[in-house]
Amino acid sequence: MAPKLINGKEVAARVREDLVQEIARLKQLGHTPGLAVVLVGDDPASQVYVGAKVKACAELGLYSQEWRLPADTTQEKLVELIHQLNADERIHGILVQSPPPPHIDEAAVILNIDPRKDVDGFHPANVAKLVLEDPTGFVPCTPLGCMELLRAAGVETAGKHAVVVGRSMIVGKPMANLLVSKAANATVTIAHSRTKNLAEVCRSADILVAAVGRPCMLGADCIKPGAVVIDVGINRIPDSSRPRGYRIVGDVDFDAVQGLCSAITPVPGGVGPMTIAMLMANTVKACRQIVGA
Ligand code: GUN
Repeated sequence: MAPKLINGKEVAARVREDLVQEIARLKQLGHTPGLAVVLVGDDPASQVYVGAKVKACAELGLYSQEWRLPADTTQEKLVELIHQLNADERIHGILVQSPPPPHIDEAAVILNIDPRKDVDGFHPANVAKLVLEDPTGFVPCTPLGCMELLRAAGVETAGKHAVVVGRSMIVGKPMANLLVSKAANATVTIAHSRTKNLAEVCRSADILVAAVGRPCMLGADCIKPGAVVIDVGINRIPDSSRPRGYRIVGDVDFDAVQGLCSAITPVPGGVGPMTIAMLMANTVKACRQIVGA
């Protein structure tokens, strides 16, 4: 049977609709939520993402600043900009697009972001708040979006076995923390590139979250019949039949698994659209917390 397709565009639109009222309330009190997006270098995918983030702000009536810095920008200059944004009262959220060029120590840069403005949830203070289940913290946007998709699709997580494939600080680790939290109550396994018998581990999952960044890596042998699959992968693979010369596929081999799982996020149109919607939600939350509204 064909699985239920979890439609990220629809869920993201609903998240944005819910924000409209809250933004209007804040504006009435004299506060417009503001986001600063910083891109160092000219990575083409990052340029697209940064443009989309600024556009999403404009569509919701948020204030935004877009900083595009040359690839040879020093770490010192970048940190200087972050301190300037920390002090800018119009800005409630600061995001430095990842990955920066190799000469920049990303972790050191993130330490300079005011944790109250760290809408990416990358600062150690926010990582701690996630582990501590402190709701004033910021959770990285992509795993936050995955949880919202599970909720919107009516997927029960309590008591279920969730397997998260990938241990990145942006997706895998925070996703595992969200699933194991008292709000979700899943039993969680984190798998990664060194996991033995990966397919077998995945096959024990009621909820499988794929965040490895390898095109179509997880196939039919990774799926328990009836499992819910959240595919975080956004991979470009060459395709001469497409105008751009490539197409986007996930970390899961969709065609191979669709006859087995009960629900799955398509790529594109699943997790992707959620990330920016959750960034908007985090920016509104940052504004609310900073101004005390
Ligand atoms: N690069 C890929 N995803 C993200 C994200 O969520 N935030 C930032 N800052 N960079 C990214």
